[in-house]
Amino acid sequence: MASGMEKLHGLLARENITEIMINGDAGTWLEIEGVKHHIDVEFDEDDMKDIIEAVFARVGKPISYYYPYGDVCLEDGSRVNIITYPLARCGTSITIRKFNRRLHSLDDLIEKGTLTRKMADFLIACVRGKVNILFSGATGSGKTTTMEMLSYHIPEQERIVTIEDTAELRLHQPNLVPMETRPPDRDGKGEVTLRDLIRNSLRMRPDRIIVGEVRGPEALDMIQAMSTGHRGTLAVIHGNSPQEITSRLETLILSSGIKLPMQEIRRMIGNTLNIIVQQERFPDGVRRVTHISEARGVERDEVALQDLYIFRREGKTPDGKIKGKFRTVMRNYPRFFAEFQRLGLLDEKVFTDQY
Ligand SMILES: Nc1ncnc2c1ncn2[C@@H]1O[C@H](COP(=O)(O)OP(=O)(O)OP(=O)(O)O)[C@@H](O)[C@H]1O
Ligand SMILES: [Mg+2]
Repeated sequence: MASGMEKLHGLLARENITEIMINGDAGTWLEIEGVKHHIDVEFDEDDMKDIIEAVFARVGKPISYYYPYGDVCLEDGSRVNIITYPLARCGTSITIRKFNRRLHSLDDLIEKGTLTRKMADFLIACVRGKVNILFSGATGSGKTTTMEMLSYHIPEQERIVTIEDTAELRLHQPNLVPMETRPPDRDGKGEVTLRDLIRNSLRMRPDRIIVGEVRGPEALDMIQAMSTGHRGTLAVIHGNSPQEITSRLETLILSSGIKLPMQEIRRMIGNTLNIIVQQERFPDGVRRVTHISEARGVERDEVALQDLYIFRREGKTPDGKIKGKFRTVMRNYPRFFAEFQRLGLLDEKVFTDQY
């Protein structure tokens, strides 16, 4: 009989899998090419114990009655979440985000139909020109992947600090400091949060700060870092549209307890954040960048947003593929464009159909 780990390795070795979802002995689901499939592989509680021991206990994140859930990254970068009794009422459940090993660069994302060469070149210039970028979308829409592939374009001489709850990013630059938060121990002590790590990173002389996901009061520390000389910050945030992201940021910043008028918070966001890259997984399984939008200060009591590039959906083919086009819809040059031209970073054709 194969052990839990052997069974798990068997699943991990399968091609084209992006997610493994094991609902105790009630069944296993795989996501392949963006679509979920049920498979006939069951994991009983002994298998689960084997996996907990091999994956979590080994890296000092034991799963116990007191902490019946947790996240860990495997050597290949796959992110494993586990939840067990008494929180998971029908048995232990494991969810694994497996990265598609065939995606190595933005060229691969272009090939998959996620964005166009023009959009990619624009974003590369944004990274090199150190504008602040947020990557937004629903779960599994490909935010982390797009951010990682763009991060490869950060110049080698820069000192990069990455801050994540679970260290997923795999960057290759030499001057790199990857950091990971820590949950509290069973006595409730020793917790280190995203806020703590962002604040500490400011004393590490970073040229570049990358935040795996902003989802709480650390939004304030991030915006403050962005506006006080740490330009070129990249971060992921969950949200369904660029508009939603700006209002979510307002809420997250307020949750830090800061006493600032809303107008001031909005100004901070509108003048600090530069670009939002909005991504979506469509019903045909393809992940697409639906918006690249620019924040341009505050207008009529809202963070003013201008779409630069969008994906416009135009229907479906009979076999269920989504039809549509990526379009350049910019009305004004981005506010940072004059500087980009001075630095020779970007050809203005990138905003036209001649590119
Ligand atoms: N553009 C793409 N085309 C095809 N597959 C992709 C693309 N981007 C990411 N993937 C695959 O889709 C899965 C989800 O990607 P990713 O982890 O980047 O999403 P995410 O939005 O960060 O998810 P989460 O919100 O759960 O962190 C991974 O297996 C990844 O390899
Ligand atoms: Mg992610």
